[in-house]
Amino acid sequence: MAIVREHFNSRIGFILAAAGSAVGIGNLVGFPVNAAKNGGAAFLIIYAVFVLLVCLPVMLAELAVGRHTQKNPLGAYKSLIHDTDKNGSRLWSIGGWLALITPYMIIVFYTVITLWVLGYFVMTVTGNLDQLANDAYFGDFINSKMIFAYLLATATIVGVILYSGVKNGIERAAKVMMPMLFIMLLGLVAFVLTQDNAILGVKFYLIPDFSKITPQVINNAMGQAFFSLSLGMGILITYGSYMDRTNSVASSAKMVALADTTVAFTAGLMILPAIFSFNPGINPDDLSNSSVSLIFSFLPKIFIAMQTSIGYFGASVFASLFFLLVLIAAITSLVSITEVPISALMDEKKITRKKSLTIISATTFVFAAAAAASFGMIDSLTQFAHYAGQNKSLFDVIIDVFYETILPLNGFIICMFVIYRWKKSNLDKELEVGDPNYRGSLLERYVNISLTTFIPVILLLIFINTVLLKFFGFSFI
Ligand code: TRP
Repeated sequence: MAIVREHFNSRIGFILAAAGSAVGIGNLVGFPVNAAKNGGAAFLIIYAVFVLLVCLPVMLAELAVGRHTQKNPLGAYKSLIHDTDKNGSRLWSIGGWLALITPYMIIVFYTVITLWVLGYFVMTVTGNLDQLANDAYFGDFINSKMIFAYLLATATIVGVILYSGVKNGIERAAKVMMPMLFIMLLGLVAFVLTQDNAILGVKFYLIPDFSKITPQVINNAMGQAFFSLSLGMGILITYGSYMDRTNSVASSAKMVALADTTVAFTAGLMILPAIFSFNPGINPDDLSNSSVSLIFSFLPKIFIAMQTSIGYFGASVFASLFFLLVLIAAITSLVSITEVPISALMDEKKITRKKSLTIISATTFVFAAAAAASFGMIDSLTQFAHYAGQNKSLFDVIIDVFYETILPLNGFIICMFVIYRWKKSNLDKELEVGDPNYRGSLLERYVNISLTTFIPVILLLIFINTVLLKFFGFSFI
């Protein structure tokens, strides 16, 4: 059965969906805290420079491959290999497979974090913020049977959105959820900034301290920018295949990058002033590097401290809105990444969306349940592996391997593939469709030069550095 490929209805629909994919927990919590610890505005500047100079060209390459081939990542690699040389090496299709397995595994661990957020949201809405602020709560919660109910609820929300397809599901959800997210974020920022001592947080966030910038910080900023924009996950190839050919890829991509960076920046104006206002003596260096421990262990304590100024009810409202914000950001990211294997199965096996969704949801559900049970519930999953001197749970291994390590490798492969196999001229041609001004523009020249030279080098270095650091406990920078 031939299935007609769906497309986004409008340019803004695509932009919101792709921004929804990019904006996640990392933007709302990871970025602000990372920035505060690593030189404030200095970190911000480096981050923005990377978004513009390194991430944007990779974004354009992924979107162009998707829009040109009208396929999922695996199908896209295969069809470009075929177009350029009918008998040529199939080695490149490794890139396609990686661009499929990576999102699949990211779904698994991101679902676990999302279900925790849902659990915390339910707790705050039902008036139980005080329990969340308890030191033991998080550990107890992630080992309770309740997580399976939240897992089912999370999978159902994502499944319902994806069931309705690209236009009526993904695009419509993004059009509702993203404006909601922006408005809630601005509201929370406005409230936090009126609190005592908030200015301390703003200062820490915005006064640049270039002395904190080390090669490791640069590496982190780059990694954060790359992950945040959904690169190397097959998402932009897939979303590119749903893009309209009358619109400019470059200007839409710029909007997505801008929206993602703006949300990350704005979230800093909520998180850091809140931390300083209700915990004025704190040194940001003492804050955890992990978004997970910040969200689930540290921030509930900040929220409960708010009761001194706005009462328990007020603090609960603030906390509920915060968890809802994070939940929306996480759901839109999960939707985008789950669409990748769904579209791959639909294209490659010629099956309907319904069937494909059922297969992907059921299998990721089982893996996610296993990952969720790897915090002590099931021993063999909790002590899943041992490397770099540490015991690692299944959840840790998935994050280390797929989120931290393989993403830059995928980025490297797509750059090499586009430049050396598909060829620059084809990339240019695709990016000119719907955008006559692209030809001969400064951006075109920059994209060509950067993708051919330093971008793959940078991505390969990040990959090698991460492998050494994560698996051998050794860093060369
Ligand atoms: N920006 C996301 C975050 O901050 C990272 C991300 C981008 C992501 N695309 C994603 C996570 C898709 C999961 C699925 O969390």
